[in-house]
Amino acid sequence: QKTTISVIKADIGSLAGHHTVHPDCMAAASRVLAEAKKNGVINDFYVTHVGDDLILIMTHTKGVDHPDVHGLAWEAFKKAAEVAKELGLYAAGQDLLSDAFSGNVRGLGPAAAEMEIEERPSEPIVIFAADKTEPGAFNLPLYKIFADPFNTAGLVIDPRLHDGFVFEVVDVFEDKGVHLNTPEELYDLLALIGTPSRYVIRRVFRKDGKIAAVVSVERLNLIAGKYVGKDDPVMIVRAQSGFPAVGEVLEPFTFPHLVAGWMRGSHNGPLMPVPVRDARPTRFDGPPRVIALGFQVKNAKLVGPSDLFDDPAFDEARRTANKVADYIRRHGPFMPHRLDPSEMEYTTLPQVLERLKDRFKPVKDLPVPKVKHSEMLSGAEEAHD
Ligand code: 13P
Ligand code: 13P
Ligand code: MG
Ligand code: MG
Ligand code: MG
Repeated sequence: QKTTISVIKADIGSLAGHHTVHPDCMAAASRVLAEAKKNGVINDFYVTHVGDDLILIMTHTKGVDHPDVHGLAWEAFKKAAEVAKELGLYAAGQDLLSDAFSGNVRGLGPAAAEMEIEERPSEPIVIFAADKTEPGAFNLPLYKIFADPFNTAGLVIDPRLHDGFVFEVVDVFEDKGVHLNTPEELYDLLALIGTPSRYVIRRVFRKDGKIAAVVSVERLNLIAGKYVGKDDPVMIVRAQSGFPAVGEVLEPFTFPHLVAGWMRGSHNGPLMPVPVRDARPTRFDGPPRVIALGFQVKNAKLVGPSDLFDDPAFDEARRTANKVADYIRRHGPFMPHRLDPSEMEYTTLPQVLERLKDRFKPVKDLPVPKVKHSEMLSGAEEAHD
């Protein structure tokens, strides 16, 4: 019997702006999942959050994209959003874009990362979730975990990792994907994934076809057609015996790399690894956060979690992230802190630019601006009266 791990997240509304999920919303979602566990729809679950995103971690035996499990997640989000509405929480129901559930949450707003596995005798997994950023934020860490021998010692030392991995990269604008083999096609891989707003690593496989990692790849703004919040992503990674060790999976996050998101989904900022208790981004609505929860999966049940970034060994990464945040914030509305125009298309900036459009003239026709001296003085004179 195969086990499926489904991690489905949605922003259903948040306490005090976009910074955290209200405990009553978490409780409402938990009640729905507890009932479903009793009825045998799922085998186990764990509810958590990163920033304003509510995360449902579920195990079952129904396979990926199963309507019962997606329907259950939808139901849990709906119940949590009802509570959010009652409490007047901010942007209640933000990620629930459609009122009609049609069997699958994909394309409706929530983000889903799911994998079906043959459980090993011991099955350690790490669930990552990030707030105030986008799915491509996991490109750099995934590259390091599965393709960089300076990060993952096992690629060199362990014969089971030595053959490398296959990366599935999706073009989120064209809805197309490609499989690239590493180490053979490392440079081709990097040529794509260095543009994380467009080319997103969706899955990683071992060369024997065993799944190693999966990321939720939904671009909420492309679905909604306008800015409705960033597509804060979730990810599942398998670890140990034939996969990278848990420490190798976490190591890339010692570098708080720059990701797109943060304030109004419009700024680059450092991705800060934090324990769940610190996953409440407040400074300029950030900086972007990532959490990591370690579980053992046994007979489709979840053992754990252990809060993996709750380790002083990540203090230095957090300090660096704060320094980088100070530095980059000083650019204010200037790029490269603010995102480039192609990314700003999905925000409210085009509305502002539209208003200026008619005032543009050929450069040679621009007159010397004339404001009458008397007009300038009159204000000052009045002030003296
Ligand atoms: P509003 O204050 O209009 O919601 O815009 C800012 C923001 O938080 C975007 O989600
Ligand atoms: P979220 O995508 O986390 O809702 O953030 C929205 C935002 O605009 C924060 O400034
Ligand atoms: Mg939000
Ligand atoms: Mg969020
Ligand atoms: Mg969001």
